[in-house]
Amino acid sequence: MIWNELPKHFTALAPMEGVTDSVFRAVIEKAGRPDLFFTEFTNVSSFASEKGRHDALDRLTVTETDAPIIAQIWGKNPEHFALLASKLEELGFSGLDLNMGCPDRHVNKAGGGAAMIKTPELASECIKKARENTNLPVSVKTRLGFSFIDEYKTWLPFLLNHHLAALTVHLRTRKEMSKVEAHYELIPEILKMRDEISPETKLIINGDIRDKKHVEELAKKYPEIDGFMIGRGVFGNPFCFTDHTPTNEELINLFLYHLDLYDEKAKKARYPFEPLKHFYKVYINSFDGASDLRVKLMECKTTDELRKVLADFQNA
Ligand SMILES: Cc1cc2nc3c(=O)[nH]c(=O)nc-3n(C[C@H](O)[C@H](O)[C@H](O)COP(=O)(O)O)c2cc1C
Repeated sequence: MIWNELPKHFTALAPMEGVTDSVFRAVIEKAGRPDLFFTEFTNVSSFASEKGRHDALDRLTVTETDAPIIAQIWGKNPEHFALLASKLEELGFSGLDLNMGCPDRHVNKAGGGAAMIKTPELASECIKKARENTNLPVSVKTRLGFSFIDEYKTWLPFLLNHHLAALTVHLRTRKEMSKVEAHYELIPEILKMRDEISPETKLIINGDIRDKKHVEELAKKYPEIDGFMIGRGVFGNPFCFTDHTPTNEELINLFLYHLDLYDEKAKKARYPFEPLKHFYKVYINSFDGASDLRVKLMECKTTDELRKVLADFQNA
């Protein structure tokens, strides 16, 4: 069972839609991997439909460097949770995680993500159906509540009563989105709930964790936390799971590696160029000339054009 094999105070790369696909995970693996990867979330009803299955399976590609990796899934149809749960072991996953925290309006309108906080009976049914249909450990990632912080006092015990393998708490409400600081002050109370209700559940904390050093600080302050999940920290520093401070050259080399992986994937499947632009800032950041360089990169339409702009910059 993967959750018992991880080191004390393990790190995880947060599931991030449009970011943590197989290509970006391989980039992070090269820079310095976390103990655990998560996929971006996959909709269970897409997988259940003929039309959506291909795309769903593409999101659920596990590569050689991914393991151990958890598949994150979302939706509101318990039977569809059952169906997708039954396939994940053969796809190479070590566990599955139900998303009950996504604040996206479309996702919530469809009854998924953070909307589950408002439909606990349905959330319970989805956990049950997923569990009945897989040998893999089932976990949940959620927020403190939908509208009010105090909701955590009932919502987290409710989830813990399912004796999940792991529970990730993004320390904000849905309403707070990512606009306020994560509520680290609630960690002792949440640990107490975990210890009283389900001591076997691994507790993972998420929200505003920057890097390995920050993880070590938090682990010192709250040693009973099992895991630390970093999301946007990778945008500021893709080497955030290591002690290493990368040079500009290392960042550009990592960017070139990303481009090679992009090309490899684009040869095999439809893999649009436009979303690649979101990553430029990850590599070309905070050095003299970075913003001018990004402007030039933004004008490029192919990976070869990007490589040429980067080579010109490096040779200047
Ligand atoms: C671009 C983006 C996409 C995200 N997609 C997902 C997702 O698919 N599933 C999920 O559970 N959370 C998703 N999140 C939320 C993150 O996993 C994480 O909970 C949040 O960013 C807070 O952590 P951080 O402060 O370390 O970034 C996403 C966040 C971002 C910024």
